[in-house]
Amino acid sequence: MASFKTLILGTLGFAPEVLGANLLAAHYTGKIFSLSYTPGARNATASLATKSSASGCGTLPAWLHVDAGVPIVYCVDEDWNGSGMLSSYSIGPDGSLKQTGQTVTSGASVHGTPYGGGDVDGYNFIATVQYDPSTLTTYELPLTNTSAVLQQLKFNLTEPKTNPRQNAPHPHASQLDPTGKFIIVPDLGADLVRIFTIDPATGNLTACEPGVADDGDGPRHGAWWAPTEGSTDGQKLYTVNELGNSVSAWDVTYPEGGCLTLKKTQTLSTYAAGSAAPNGSKASEVHVSGNFLYAANRADETFGAENDSMATYAIDAATGAISWVEATPAHAWFPRSFSINKAGDLVAIGGQTSSNVAIVARDPKTGKLGELKANVQVATPGTPQQEDGLSTVVWVE
Ligand SMILES: *[C@@H]1O[C@H](CO)[C@@H](O)[C@H](O)[C@H]1NC(C)=O
Ligand SMILES: *[C@@H]1O[C@H](CO)[C@@H](O)[C@H](O)[C@H]1NC(C)=O
Ligand SMILES: *[C@@H]1O[C@H](CO)[C@@H](O)[C@H](O)[C@H]1NC(C)=O
Ligand SMILES: *[C@@H]1O[C@H](CO)[C@@H](O)[C@H](O)[C@H]1NC(C)=O
Ligand SMILES: *[C@@H]1O[C@H](CO)[C@@H](O)[C@H](O)[C@H]1NC(C)=O
Ligand SMILES: *[C@@H]1O[C@H](CO)[C@@H](O)[C@H](O)[C@H]1NC(C)=O
Ligand SMILES: *[C@@H]1O[C@H](CO)[C@@H](O)[C@H](O)[C@H]1NC(C)=O
Repeated sequence: MASFKTLILGTLGFAPEVLGANLLAAHYTGKIFSLSYTPGARNATASLATKSSASGCGTLPAWLHVDAGVPIVYCVDEDWNGSGMLSSYSIGPDGSLKQTGQTVTSGASVHGTPYGGGDVDGYNFIATVQYDPSTLTTYELPLTNTSAVLQQLKFNLTEPKTNPRQNAPHPHASQLDPTGKFIIVPDLGADLVRIFTIDPATGNLTACEPGVADDGDGPRHGAWWAPTEGSTDGQKLYTVNELGNSVSAWDVTYPEGGCLTLKKTQTLSTYAAGSAAPNGSKASEVHVSGNFLYAANRADETFGAENDSMATYAIDAATGAISWVEATPAHAWFPRSFSINKAGDLVAIGGQTSSNVAIVARDPKTGKLGELKANVQVATPGTPQQEDGLSTVVWVE
């Protein structure tokens, strides 16, 4: 049956997609911006505009976790002066945010994910990671001004590392696995992908044997893929290595009643064969769409001044092995994050130093990234290699 929306738009002669989509972008000046993307009707140019903004996530909002089904967004604060915020917001139909919870933390958080089945927004807990303090910290949901730390695990290096940025463990992300029963924590300082089982009743996390990356890789974030959606048969994890400027593929297994296991099978550069990572460049983010994997390179300026690159890999549909496809322009400088829409035809790229959001076309069949569809400047640009500018961007759909 045709929806009301389709009927109305059909009458007016517009395709439903003309309605556009919302995005959220966090900025290291303390605000979360609601953006609206409108595709070009017929041959008109697409547009992207800032609609509203919200504060309440401390001084350095570093990461947004959107649960579009609710819809809710969680925000972590990277403030490293000893106090930060962990916040939640409801998302209105126009993308605007309304704060629903806020908790004072000890700051330095760079990532977080809700977890543990429950009746509070589908989850009962949230796991956050702190880069410099080398900690994983959990809280009960919903967040309130009296929320206390539920559990805090502090990581230590078992042996010294050679890269000066690996002076200590630096957990960079906390991500749920596809079953929702485990949390993985890529640790840039320890060259590990830490694995934790979840006690769904209490939210308690218990460490498993971690996945071991190569010395100096500096794993930062991960993305999941399996040959068949909804099945963990042939499950793979792909991680992006910030220090090694590479992506790694991992075999994932689920032994009966035990811990998820990770075994690294492959590591490929985020640059084409024969091209080295320029000095100062740092791979930042990884995402999967269809049978393709994408990574963002920060500060490589492969496509000219202030124009970094995105790396595309093909995923072998049977084995999950990855192969290099191409580098394409990020239309952004220091792309700290990017987000692929559900339809797989648009990629939003967040330039940290350039402080812009660029919307780039993607061909869902070939996986190739194409023309720039729209671009918007958000708040004030950053300074090279500093913790300012735009921190993250994500589609809300
Ligand atoms: C869109 O542009 C193309 C080439 O620029 C043209 O061939 C086509 O007729 C245009 N379509 C519409 C609906 O205006
Ligand atoms: C930390 O405190 C210093 C000194 O008060 C201040 O200049 C700086 O902006 C603060 N940084 C953050 C991330 O809040
Ligand atoms: C804590 O939250 C409650 C309920 O939302 C509110 O009434 C109270 O003023 C808040 N307290 C502080 C110190 O913000
Ligand atoms: C790491 O060291 C801290 C401080 O010495 C200690 O409290 C903690 O238990 C250690 N963590 C592990 C996992 O060994
Ligand atoms: C929670 O997990 C920790 C290990 O991470 C373990 O030492 C502790 O006993 C667990 N607590 C409960 C109540 O299960
Ligand atoms: C790389 O860049 C850093 C900081 O920009 C600089 O200090 C260093 O000398 C550079 N190294 C090389 C080999 O150019
Ligand atoms: C980035 O490079 C592409 C390809 O050369 C170009 O079309 C685009 O205008 C450049 N963007 C910026 C911001 O420099």
